[in-house]
Amino acid sequence: FEQQPLRVEVNGVAQQLSVEPRVTLLDLLREQLSLTGTKKGCDHGQCGACTVHVDGQRVNSCLTLALTTEGSKVTTIEGLGSVDKLHPMQEAFIKHDGFQCGYCTPGQIMSAVACINEGHANSPDEVREYMSGNICRCGAYANIVEAIMEVKS
Ligand code: FES
Repeated sequence: FEQQPLRVEVNGVAQQLSVEPRVTLLDLLREQLSLTGTKKGCDHGQCGACTVHVDGQRVNSCLTLALTTEGSKVTTIEGLGSVDKLHPMQEAFIKHDGFQCGYCTPGQIMSAVACINEGHANSPDEVREYMSGNICRCGAYANIVEAIMEVKS
């Protein structure tokens, strides 16, 4: 397929790229921009490991064609905090043991931040509902909910 131009801002950096129409945002991030914090779990919208924000809204990047992000601002886990200064949600995940193997964690944290920003963290039940698309095979769910409720408070 012929490559097409794509202008998109990723973690505050303006990018001018050439992308094939079939390429997903997930593959663009991981393979073209070497932002491997965003994980590929199922690659078909069922696990949430690939969650990023596009213009502040959470999306499954495996279900998003890269070219549809033209002119948008994309934020990945690499853009949320820094090694020197973690995002409060990253701090809370550490404090509450919100992970074990860590594979789902970038997606969990991007969803967790969106959960609060979109106003869906008013109760543990509401958080569980919002976070239900992010699968954790280690079963850290209870601690993830605790982390989100702490950041919300
Ligand atoms: Fe996108 Fe599983 S990799 S939802």
